[in-house]
Amino acid sequence: MNILELATKRKTARKFKPTPIKDEDIEYILETARQAPSGSNRQPWRFIIVRSHEMKKKIREASEAGEKEFYENLSPERKVWYKEKGLSPSKPNLTEAPILIVVVGDTSAPNYKPSLWVTITYMTLAIEELGLATVTYTPSNPVLVSDVIDVPDGFMVESVLPIGFSDDSKTKEPRLEVSELVFRERWGNQS
Ligand SMILES: Cc1cc2nc3c(=O)[nH]c(=O)nc-3n(C[C@H](O)[C@H](O)[C@H](O)COP(=O)(O)O)c2cc1C
Repeated sequence: MNILELATKRKTARKFKPTPIKDEDIEYILETARQAPSGSNRQPWRFIIVRSHEMKKKIREASEAGEKEFYENLSPERKVWYKEKGLSPSKPNLTEAPILIVVVGDTSAPNYKPSLWVTITYMTLAIEELGLATVTYTPSNPVLVSDVIDVPDGFMVESVLPIGFSDDSKTKEPRLEVSELVFRERWGNQS
């Protein structure tokens, strides 16, 4: 598949089969990730591969503690939106997926967050190409998750990617049409 086909087919999965993933697939995802461009080429990403149930459980517990606090402070309208999407503070996929890749950022690097999201994007396309799936989970309290995996000062967890074979029947979320997104020469001009 070419990039457009992969991007069109790719969708988020929040449920995973326990089927293990091949080591070479993880290597392929990481090899793709490290080719991403970054601000001043600082490559501000580090990747923590988590396979053990013990560490997955710690990451899940830290994540759920952060989510619980976040959900308690949501506005009533946002609570409805989250409920409609089937989202809740519970994160079972963090222990169900055969592997987690935790993406950690060097917070001292220029533009470190956009750079991390470029590498995460590369990873999501590699994951799709391999016939695997993920969700780019962004912990509400990344400090709690960073602490359980011993992330040093100056670095912070940005996203946790549970990776596996999808067991999620959800369809891809709708996308805006190009005509709704693109203007010619200046804002508002569609001709
Ligand atoms: C920056 C970013 C943060 C996201 N954070 C979360 C998250 O914390 N939890 C989650 O379940 N999905 C998260 N997602 C996934 C989006 O909800 C999902 O990509 C979007 O709804 C479109 O759905 P689709 O990927 O299936 O097309 C995130 C996606 C992005 C790009």
